Amino acid sequence: MRQRAGNLGQALAWSGRGRGLDVTVVASRFATRAKLDRIRALDARLELVDGDHEMARERAAAIARYDGIRLVEDSLDIETCEGAATIGLELVDTAPSFDAVLIALGGEALATGVGHAVKALAPEVEVICVQPLGAPALTHSWRQRRVVTTDSTNTIADGVAGRRPIPAVLDDLLLVADDAVLVQEASIITGMRMLLYHAGLVVEPSAALGIAAILEDRDRFAGRHVVTIVCGSNVDVDAYHRWVGAAPIHRP
Ligand SMILES: Cc1ncc(COP(=O)(O)O)c(C=O)c1O
Repeated sequence: MRQRAGNLGQALAWSGRGRGLDVTVVASRFATRAKLDRIRALDARLELVDGDHEMARERAAAIARYDGIRLVEDSLDIETCEGAATIGLELVDTAPSFDAVLIALGGEALATGVGHAVKALAPEVEVICVQPLGAPALTHSWRQRRVVTTDSTNTIADGVAGRRPIPAVLDDLLLVADDAVLVQEASIITGMRMLLYHAGLVVEPSAALGIAAILEDRDRFAGRHVVTIVCGSNVDVDAYHRWVGAAPIHRP
């Protein structure tokens, strides 16, 4: 199987262990250490590549071809979108009606899954995807309605740091996203800090993208009921302290 930064890898390792299935996770050796350690702790075989997530993706495809095993491609395999869609179902079921949902955008399984569920059940809700300025490939692709790639990424939000969108995936995203916005690293850090101080949540950078988007465009969201998905908390403790300790405290 293949995964971006380690969260899907953990999910598959956990699921495989429960079902007695062998899972191989292919990841970048530069991935967040906490994610790699947790994948190992869940008994998956972990293969590290000396490159970024896109190279891990290629290597996973090669292993699957060679060994004749099932390849799970984040965002391309419909199951990865369906899993995320359950969050959309929960949102529509449990939250009082809301006006907009802000969703971290990486490969797009999360945005497409949640977006489809929300658009099917609450079509008036605005579905807004959020990416870091340092990893903008899918946002540019959404805006230009064609696949746009980048040579590199430069963001602390490793969970969403892709540079080569999958064409079929973009088609799905175009159906459900109303907007895609880019945010600065400083806003992501401020968002992480706000989630710690105001909600008592330790989150990884990708999970603060929605808050970052609100901070960067307060007028757009003022007076509206906005939902965001806090989608991960796998951080290396040292990096977390460095980031969260470095941002000026934000007072609403
Ligand atoms: C923490 C976190 N947030 C958001 C995402 C968004 O994922 P995607 O757009 O690839 O579904 C991921 C994907 O792995 C993630 O790990």
